Amino acid sequence: MSEAPDHAPGLERAFSFVPAERTAERLRVEGEVPAFLRGTYYLNGPARFTRGDVRYRHWLDGDGMVCALRFDDPQTAGVHLTARFVRGTKLVEEEAAGRALYRAFGTSFPGDRLVRGIALESPLNVSLYPFGDALLAFGEQGLPWELDPDTLETRGVYGFGGALNPLSPFAAHPKIDPATGELFNFGVSFSAVQPSLNLYRFDAGGGLIYRRRLALPEPRSLHDFCLAGRHVAFFLGPYWLDMEALRDGRTLLDSLRWEPERGSRLLVARRDDGEAVASVPVGERYVLHGINAFEDPADADRLIVDVLELDRPVYDQYSVPDLFPDVAPGRPVRLTVDLSTGALVDRREIAYERAPDFPAIDPELAGRPYEDFWMLGISHTGRPGRKTFDQVVHASWAHPERVEVWQAPPGHYLGGEPAFAPNPAGGGAVICQRFDAERGESAFLVFDAFDVAAGPVAVLPLERPLHLGFHALFAGSA
Ligand SMILES: [Fe+2]
Repeated sequence: MSEAPDHAPGLERAFSFVPAERTAERLRVEGEVPAFLRGTYYLNGPARFTRGDVRYRHWLDGDGMVCALRFDDPQTAGVHLTARFVRGTKLVEEEAAGRALYRAFGTSFPGDRLVRGIALESPLNVSLYPFGDALLAFGEQGLPWELDPDTLETRGVYGFGGALNPLSPFAAHPKIDPATGELFNFGVSFSAVQPSLNLYRFDAGGGLIYRRRLALPEPRSLHDFCLAGRHVAFFLGPYWLDMEALRDGRTLLDSLRWEPERGSRLLVARRDDGEAVASVPVGERYVLHGINAFEDPADADRLIVDVLELDRPVYDQYSVPDLFPDVAPGRPVRLTVDLSTGALVDRREIAYERAPDFPAIDPELAGRPYEDFWMLGISHTGRPGRKTFDQVVHASWAHPERVEVWQAPPGHYLGGEPAFAPNPAGGGAVICQRFDAERGESAFLVFDAFDVAAGPVAVLPLERPLHLGFHALFAGSA
């Protein structure tokens, strides 16, 4: 620890254990689970931070563990938790060797390996998405791996019927159109000579419809994008990967360059064929996650793209266990661009600057007009010293001047995208995680999505602690 104040006492406890795998463990319920909540909350996140002599130093380094929290009829079955490590190449080979073999995002060590000298072997720890009859687990880069949606057992690498190979660039946030079942994703080719953004479109069965290569000015780091009606949109911040540094043995983190003077651009392509239609200057900030995007119902030339915009990148703030020591402010921003002129025509902010992340919407409204979203925030943003997520926030574009916030008690830290579960009668719930650092205990929290400030309506404590996760979603029972 540095001499800076500590705004997250005990946070190291959240990274000090290897979480146990579990099968349909029945959870105790404090409070009341809303009666409409039927289905499964899925969560992925980095869970194991040591292997042999290597202790990982970065939040993106840990081996991925997925969780399925099943809400059945509370009168009969209740709530059950299943958790499993994703058994991809990295975990299986390192487990067999009894030591770390592969370089990680933020940790290198003598003799560490890259895949064919250029890519990380994915720890499969960022996100997960149901697709067809499978659940796909994703890491920051690389192909997803297929899991059994019920048991969470790993079936194997998912290569889209042979259309992709282990070196195909592929990011962690595919977009699945709820209307057609099509899956869109991108991946950056970090070539210094011909950097490009690969845009993929797959049909609902995983068959490749197209792969388009869109030229980039430099090999920019990009984590997420937005599906927006007939378009897709990419916020390209001035953050780029120096492949030479990676080849010289640096970590991926130490090979990334932040050069705000290069400016940020919103790249828009047609969904139908992947053709680029606009590249719009949008300032010089950084976006890790989009919130949602859609076409202006009143003007088909206008695209509305909502993002969480940060003053600078955040990956250098993921030091384990001293997270976010100097995290920059960030806020939700609505960008309106005119595709006929390629200009930014409007910019609106929501009044919340506490470095929010993990935005969640009603998934049925992806790519369509919407108002409400949820996210986690860091109350001590702007003050030096380690800190982490301790606020659940509900915001709405209908009233950008005010947000609803639930502040966790001191020593309680939050994890997991606050995934939204709709109530068919209107409204809904959001679900996230809590780690109590003093007691070393984990729980899931359920909130009324439209009254988060009132605190959780149900707390589901766990017998044994669980890692703090990244992305989550709620899949309702059919
Ligand atoms: Fe993400």
